[in-house]
Amino acid sequence: MESYTIEAAKAVSGEITVPGDKSISHRSIMLGSIASGITRVTGFLRGEDNLATLNAFRAMGVEVEDDGTTLTIHGRGLHGLEEPADVIDCGNSGTSIRLLTGLLSGQSFFSVLTGDKYLRKRPMKRVVGPLWEMGARIAGRAGGEKAPLAISGARLQGIAYDSPVSSAQVKSAILLAGLYADGETVVREPHLSRDHSERMLRHFGADIQADGPCVRIRGGRELRGQDIVVPGDISSAAFFIVSGLIVPGSELLIKGVGVNPTRTGIVDILHLMGGEISLQNQRELSGEPVADILVRTSPLRGIEIGGDLVPRAIDEFPVLCVAAACASGRTVIRDAQELRVKETDRIKAMAENLRLAGVPVEETGDGMIIEGGKGFSAFNADSKGDHRIAMSMLIAGLVTPGSCRVDDTDCIATSFPNFFQLLEQVAKR
Ligand code: S3P
Repeated sequence: MESYTIEAAKAVSGEITVPGDKSISHRSIMLGSIASGITRVTGFLRGEDNLATLNAFRAMGVEVEDDGTTLTIHGRGLHGLEEPADVIDCGNSGTSIRLLTGLLSGQSFFSVLTGDKYLRKRPMKRVVGPLWEMGARIAGRAGGEKAPLAISGARLQGIAYDSPVSSAQVKSAILLAGLYADGETVVREPHLSRDHSERMLRHFGADIQADGPCVRIRGGRELRGQDIVVPGDISSAAFFIVSGLIVPGSELLIKGVGVNPTRTGIVDILHLMGGEISLQNQRELSGEPVADILVRTSPLRGIEIGGDLVPRAIDEFPVLCVAAACASGRTVIRDAQELRVKETDRIKAMAENLRLAGVPVEETGDGMIIEGGKGFSAFNADSKGDHRIAMSMLIAGLVTPGSCRVDDTDCIATSFPNFFQLLEQVAKR
């Protein structure tokens, strides 16, 4: 198991680009594979999670060429996938397993999906339940709640589903099944979660309409291959945005970042905390808004975070906790119970790690209360196998006197393979 020792930085500065968006990269492979014709993807994130999705489609007969810059996917059409010869291993990737469960439910073959020890603990009924309602034949451990999941292709019927959670994985699994279902499939969620599936499905020519948190899709229409340019992942940029705010004397430009409004909760929250962050050079690529993000050191203040801001920043809470610990006053996070079922229980993991760093934290059922302003004292943190916990504590290390160690950092490769290289590039010592 890898560990990393980090020293405080005098400043973070320079200009960087972060790797491609993880959510968009997954979807580009999935839709490219079931479209007819060629899909070319540039900016694809070559992290372990996305490679799991790529390998899954290769195992179902999809030819994908990779020249190091562009992936060329030879789409097989809506009904052209082949039965995989073996179990599909989704590794640590919740997006791979949940979206594939939806997509594979409507095929005419048998498949089995599994993942690593963390993924096999995560809840799957949230997708399996509505897919059963559509007529899917899925069996899994614990009555369909846990992977491995075994899927026997079936004829699906459109449903109208009111999701109890704001989850893009749930929504997307149902929409992908909806591509194969008779009639119309409707998904409604409490607050709008990331809408990359809707945007990309539209880009590929699907019969889809979105109206806020309610999406409708009609099955049966062939998708056409497209060129996709994947923007930088704002969830990866978030670590550097927070570093630019909390390390004294910093100014950092992060170029070409996806700024889809369903993902920019991190920017809105940090603005409310007093952070100086500006979006420049705004443009659109493959149906997704993109900008360069400029950030400067700012005094932060604690705030209350809840409601519809939560799904718009769901992956950024670990690093927001670090920002909150550096802010003056108290930060209260609520409505964030979904954090308990991420790669690890992120409320518990961050509370434990912040306490190790001397930060007063109270865990609540759906969030936490962080008393900011005291700073961090040298710590030895444990990622619990979660990439975002590991990176967040390394960012905390940039403003901690002395050396800090973070254990179990291999997991960073799931989403951000060149994180350490960028960290050492921007951290001035
Ligand atoms: C994702 C959706 C979110 C997010 C995950 C990626 C996606 O999960 O946390 O990292 O690509 O659809 P939920 O749908 O469980 O909220």
